Amino acid sequence: MPCWPKRGRRLLQPIAKATEAAPAKINLALHVTGRRGDGYHLLDSLVAFADIADRVTVEPAAEMSLDVTGPRAAGVPADARNLVWKAAALSGAPPVAITLEKHLPAAAGIGGGSSDAAATLRALERLGLASLPDPADLLELGADLPVCLSPRAVRMEGIGETLSPVPPLPPLWCLLVNPGVALSTPAVFAALETRENPGLRGHMPVGAGAFCAWLAGQRNDLEPPALRLAPVIRDVLAALAAQPGCALARMSGSGATCFGLFPAEAPARAAAAALSRAEPGWWVAAGRLA
Ligand code: C5P
Repeated sequence: MPCWPKRGRRLLQPIAKATEAAPAKINLALHVTGRRGDGYHLLDSLVAFADIADRVTVEPAAEMSLDVTGPRAAGVPADARNLVWKAAALSGAPPVAITLEKHLPAAAGIGGGSSDAAATLRALERLGLASLPDPADLLELGADLPVCLSPRAVRMEGIGETLSPVPPLPPLWCLLVNPGVALSTPAVFAALETRENPGLRGHMPVGAGAFCAWLAGQRNDLEPPALRLAPVIRDVLAALAAQPGCALARMSGSGATCFGLFPAEAPARAAAAALSRAEPGWWVAAGRLA
């Protein structure tokens, strides 16, 4: 059954399939400010995205199917356990064939599964098969789902449902590094020693230098527990901080992926090449921050 795009009807061309990028989510800062009665933690986080992404392709089909391809496909479930499948089911869309091209590591603190699910929902919307759900309705799939639905820099509070705009980020490059250790998000939260920390401090400045200096004064409160569970993260942070041109090194989400921020592209690319050579077992990727 052909589907018609909402935009571009004048082209008289049915859209047979839709492909969406599912960019890496980066918690530039992540403060744990409290805990709800149900055990979920309250956060105050500045979230951004990098143009390092999985790709999701969706097309109408007689029955639901999922094909997982790409360099990081190993171990990713290709059935109803996958968040992309769950998102399609929740949207109420008719059956679709989904191809998920994995470039991002899983269980890595960069929201891969959530970003894939959000990209699936955007693709279904472009195909005219489902409307975009209310972000709050997506929390049941994962606390990072709402923020991934419209991937752009935003302040995230509550457990992930309260999203507020932030000034445009300065031009920055980021280097993502994962040492090949999968960390369980519940295990990292459970290992937290202090659950009631202050939220983000002060106002986000506009220029790259001032922004990085402001960010250096914020934290990722999940770094200490993640470091206890995976001490190799300390090596990743030290390796990033030692790269020429790196303005800040920090862990994203519940880890183990860490990021380095670079005001210029060439040092970010040079650092990516140097770290890939020095640590062939680590996943290393450079991209623009948005
Ligand atoms: O919802 P999501 O799949 O991202 O979270 C996985 C687990 O991480 C939750 O079941 C919960 O144990 C923990 N978590 C939390 N507080 C949050 C987000 C996640 O305690 N804000």
